Amino acid sequence: LPPNLQMEEGCGLRRANCRAKGAAPGFKVAILGAAGGIGQPLAMLMKMNPLVSVLHLYDVVNSPGVTADISHMDTGAVVRGFLGQAQLEDALTGMDLIIIPAGVPRKPGMTRDDLFNINAGIVKTLCEGIAKCCPNAIVNLISNPVNSTVPIAAEVFKKAGTYDPKRLLGVTMLDVVRANTFVAEVLGLDPRDVNVPVVGGHAGVTILPLLSQVKPPCSFTAKEIDYLTDRIQNGGTEVVEAKAGAGSATLSMAYAAVKFADACLRGLRGDAGIVECAFVASQVTELPFFASKVRLGRSGVEEVHPLGPLNEYERVGLEKAKKELAASIQKGVSFIRK
Ligand code: NAD
Ligand code: LMR
Repeated sequence: LPPNLQMEEGCGLRRANCRAKGAAPGFKVAILGAAGGIGQPLAMLMKMNPLVSVLHLYDVVNSPGVTADISHMDTGAVVRGFLGQAQLEDALTGMDLIIIPAGVPRKPGMTRDDLFNINAGIVKTLCEGIAKCCPNAIVNLISNPVNSTVPIAAEVFKKAGTYDPKRLLGVTMLDVVRANTFVAEVLGLDPRDVNVPVVGGHAGVTILPLLSQVKPPCSFTAKEIDYLTDRIQNGGTEVVEAKAGAGSATLSMAYAAVKFADACLRGLRGDAGIVECAFVASQVTELPFFASKVRLGRSGVEEVHPLGPLNEYERVGLEKAKKELAASIQKGVSFIRK
C-alpha cells in the first residue's frame, strides 16, 4: 500500500478497536468498481452510512486515490483501498455486503445488452472471487445488463456450490426512484410521499411500473399512463443522451444504490417490514428471475411478493416484458454453461 493508505489503515484500526469496546456494531461492505462514475459517489454515501463499520473500495484503476480522499471524511466507517486483481481476495474477505457497479456504461445509441460482451466477463470474475472469499455475503449487482448479469452471477455461484438465491439481488431501485419522481411531478406531490412498484427487469419494456398500485392511491388519465410508462422505461436513455457520450446515470444511481444497500443492511440487522423492489430468483412468473417487491431480512430475500392485481394495460406490458426477459436471462445462463 502507498504510505498514505497505510496510515489511514492504522488510524482506522484504532477506531475499529474503540468501537469494539461498546459502540454499535456495523457491517462490512465492499464496493467493486469503486473508482467509477457510480462507484465514487456510492463510496462517499456508504462512508456516511452509520450501519457501515468497514468499507472496502476495490477497482482495477484509481482506487488508492478515491480511498485516500474518502478516508478523510469524519464518519465512523473505516475505509480501505484495493487495486487490481491481485488484491481482489483481500477486498472480499470478511464482507457482509458486496455492491458491484463495475463495468462499462452505455453511450448514445447503445442498448444495455450491447454492454454484455465486456460486462459479462467482469461480473463472472468478480463473482468467482465472491464464491471463494465471502460466499455468505449479500450481493447487490448494478452492472448492466442486469437482466443477464444476475443470471450470470447465479450460474457462477452454482458452479462453485455456494449459490443462495436469497443473497443475490439485481439492483432495480433506480427505476423505482425515477418512477416516484415522475409520478410525484404529475400528481403534484412530494416524491418522498410516493411509492411506485416497478417490476419485471431493468431494460426498456422489461421495466414495468405498476401505476395501478401507486401509494398513495390515485388515478391517471390514459395519456398520463402512456407518458409515465414511457418516461420510466426510458429514464436511463434520457440520461445517456443528455450526457452525450460521457456515460450513463451515476449520481441518481449512487443515491438509489445506497437506498437499496441501506435496506439490505437494515434487513440484516433484523429490522422488520423492509420491502423494496429487486431483480431476484423468483416464482412469481414462469421465468427464473423477475423483479418485484421483496421482503429483506437477516438472510437476505426472505419473501418474494406476488405482483398483486394488474389492469389490462399492465397485463399487456407484462407479456412484452417476459418475452424480452426470457431471452436476456437465457443469454446470461448460456454465457457460463457454454
Ligand atoms: P464507469 O465506467 O464510470 O465505472 C466503472 C468502473 O468499473 C471503472 O472505475 C472501472 O475501472 C471499473 N472496472 C472495470 N472492470 C473492472 C473489474 N474487472 N473489476 C473491478 N472494477 C472494474 O461506469 P459507471 O457509470 O459507474 O457504470 C457502471 C455500470 O453500472 C455500467 O455497466 C452501467 O451500465 C451500470 N448501471 C446500472 C444501473 C442500474 O440501475 N442497475 C444504473 C446506472 C448504471
Ligand atoms: C440506468 O437505468 O440509468 C442504467 O441502467 C444505465 C443505462 O444504461 O441506462
